[in-house]
Amino acid sequence: MNPLITDFNTETTRTPVIVALDFANEQDTLAFVRRLDPSLCCLKIGKELFTATGRSLVEKLIHQGFQIFLDLKYHDIPNTVAQACKAAADIGVWMVDMHVSGGRRMMEAAAEAVANHAQKPLLIGVTVLTSMEQSDLKEIGIDIPVEDLVVRWAELAKHSGLDGVVCSAHEAAPLRRTLGEDFVLVTPGIRLNVAANNDDQRRIMTPAEALAAGSTYLVMGRPVTLATDPVAVLREVNAAVNGL
Ligand code: C5P
Repeated sequence: MNPLITDFNTETTRTPVIVALDFANEQDTLAFVRRLDPSLCCLKIGKELFTATGRSLVEKLIHQGFQIFLDLKYHDIPNTVAQACKAAADIGVWMVDMHVSGGRRMMEAAAEAVANHAQKPLLIGVTVLTSMEQSDLKEIGIDIPVEDLVVRWAELAKHSGLDGVVCSAHEAAPLRRTLGEDFVLVTPGIRLNVAANNDDQRRIMTPAEALAAGSTYLVMGRPVTLATDPVAVLREVNAAVNGL
């Protein structure tokens, strides 16, 4: 058992909120996280922060009791992704992701690599990046409607042994119907007030709407990280979703 992990639980988390730590360095990240409590949220570390700080920051945050989503979106040959997922499991991360477009053999190898791990992380597939439009897909030789591709890739992810996918909350209802109750749906693009300033997100939902649509976890960045009182925002979100 990894000694870093004192409260590891892959089946249920204490809150559906995952805060995206979109900071450039460790100092800013720790200054922000100091205000939080693991009962209020899980934390997502992406490519920028991980590349800048590496494994040690992940370990520090796990030590503090946080469940970590390592959002590195792996995409490589099966053996490389499998070993990367195993390395992530060894650190003790709670969730890790990869591109479904890496194919069935890549996902199966990843699932097999962590299947018997003492702290098996949730394996999540990235379907179509929300930054991609139909014309972008066509340019790389994919000529089917985005929505159809998302469902097809989510089904492939499930059949290849992944635990869930990242998707827009607007795709959650059809995916939930197709993929069943146990499949994990991780949805970004969450805003407290859909009429307010939404930064660069276009297709947004409130936390309660997203959960009602079938989301399992809500990824929230700027509405929490830029708030004057992030803890108050997290309490509000958790209260709203617990009341559902
Ligand atoms: O600040 P905001 O709430 O928009 O942050 C959302 C987070 O979710 C960011 O880290 C962003 O990179 C990530 N994300 C996203 N859309 C996706 C996948 C990930 O916004 N389709």
